[in-house]
Amino acid sequence: MHKLTARYPTDLPSWRKLREHLRERMAETDIATLFRKDSGRHERFSLRDGDLLLDFSRNRIAPRTLQLLLSLAREAGVAGARDAMFVGEPINVTEGRAVLHAALRGGRRGGFHADGEGVSKAVADVLDAMLDFVDAVHAGGVRGSTGKRFTDVINVGIGGSDLGIVMACKGLAHVATGLEVHGVSNVDGTQFADLAKRLDPATTLVVVCSKTFTTLETMSNAQLAREWIAVALGDAAVGDHFAAASTNHEAMDAFGIHRHRRFGFWDWVGGRYSLWSAVGLSIALGIGKENFRELLAGGRAMDRHFAETPLAGNLPVVLALLAVWNNNFLGAESQAILPYDNRLERFPAYLQQLQMESNGKSVRRDGRPVRCKTGMVIWGEPGSNAQHSFYQLLHQGTRQVPCDFLLPVQPSGSGQAQQDLAIANCLAQADALAFGYSEDDAHEELTARGLEAADIARLAPHKVHAGNVSSNVLLLKALTARTLGQLVALYEHKVFVEGVIWGINSFDQWGVELGKKMASALAPAVADPALAASGNPATHALLTQAARWRRAP
Ligand code: F6P
Repeated sequence: MHKLTARYPTDLPSWRKLREHLRERMAETDIATLFRKDSGRHERFSLRDGDLLLDFSRNRIAPRTLQLLLSLAREAGVAGARDAMFVGEPINVTEGRAVLHAALRGGRRGGFHADGEGVSKAVADVLDAMLDFVDAVHAGGVRGSTGKRFTDVINVGIGGSDLGIVMACKGLAHVATGLEVHGVSNVDGTQFADLAKRLDPATTLVVVCSKTFTTLETMSNAQLAREWIAVALGDAAVGDHFAAASTNHEAMDAFGIHRHRRFGFWDWVGGRYSLWSAVGLSIALGIGKENFRELLAGGRAMDRHFAETPLAGNLPVVLALLAVWNNNFLGAESQAILPYDNRLERFPAYLQQLQMESNGKSVRRDGRPVRCKTGMVIWGEPGSNAQHSFYQLLHQGTRQVPCDFLLPVQPSGSGQAQQDLAIANCLAQADALAFGYSEDDAHEELTARGLEAADIARLAPHKVHAGNVSSNVLLLKALTARTLGQLVALYEHKVFVEGVIWGINSFDQWGVELGKKMASALAPAVADPALAASGNPATHALLTQAARWRRAP
């Protein structure tokens, strides 16, 4: 059994050396100076795996910074922890589980084990059954109760049973060969209500997706969907219009999901790591079987890269170390994810769960409090839209927000000319953030425009961009199922490496339990506020007002 270091990262020799290095060499250095001194930064600070290239030269790092960060990874035991994950040790210590999402994309001969038992065959059997079902739906062998072919899928799920599905279906819409997929997740029911107005129940397949099959949002939305089908097509039609993915076979059975339409997975698949499992059923229905296999192949290629590449050339390791540097040493509180392809519009939301649910922790694996900041706040929006919204703060605000730019080179639907504009915008932004615009630059510009000296003096300070904002550019040859698979697995492993360095368990999520429990307890009080009279007076007052407005005309 692999033993993770019990030492706090802050006690590791490299952490101390990084602090000294920051104080003595980097605190006063900016990215522009680093580039002036070393024109070979791109070659020095970029890594490639297949059709994916990471340029991290626009970070406030020197070669020594990277050396020390790599030593930190060694001292924290990253390689050993990674190997422990791949061999199926129960590294999710609070839930006593292995962490084997890599097995889901590892293939029939992947050789993965959990609790000493081989799992690759079972994984491949479920995948085959699921893709046979997908084929049958696409070919029209499986149809709705009236004999019509399915045209639409409603995926009912939340968190890891929704975000990856919606992200991948939108992200790969340009190569999709299947049905149109719609996600229904939120508890308020509006997503379903809007879809119900425009979809035809006779041509709609509902996929209920839930690891536990007990999640309140999913169960209540699934119930709405069932009533919708039953009212339109009769009770007997429900079975023909539902399929499901879950680890809870009894609950799928009790809901009335036909046994040939139930696709299982396992406890060792974390919710937010599950899009590769039967949770991907809606993805495969949307993008087609071949594309789904390509997505898995992309993930598998990144697993191999992560497992086999020495730390210095290892994309997830380097990406994690840069995040640790920006977070723990340079003090960044958040990171922006900025895709320059609108199809990736849900990628930031997907990463929010992956990173913040995984690494939003303040207790170490051994139960002791952490002594350093852990997961950063993740947020973002697609490229040039965001330039006309929050980039102002990135350029001239008072906070340092490191950015990840995601940049496909080939177009994913428009022409190359449009994507060329996206490329120009993305790289211009990365440079503007890194190098800024000095007061001298502003003076020169305003003088050239013929302004009076007084106006130049008044305006110039407003035009200054401090620069020195760190960013990574992830260049993709094209946005394909394979590169998307690589990208997702890259971030999964990056999150894992960060967690190892901080000494936390990236695979549990106790922090979402308390709110859920309290919501269940409070639910009856919404209709009858007296039930909450002994609780928080502010909550009671709001419930009382809500009760009045619930009944108001
Ligand atoms: O939000 C907590 C969480 O447990 C996530 O980790 C998970 O993705 C989501 O709920 C959905 O859970 P389930 O798939 O069991 O419905």
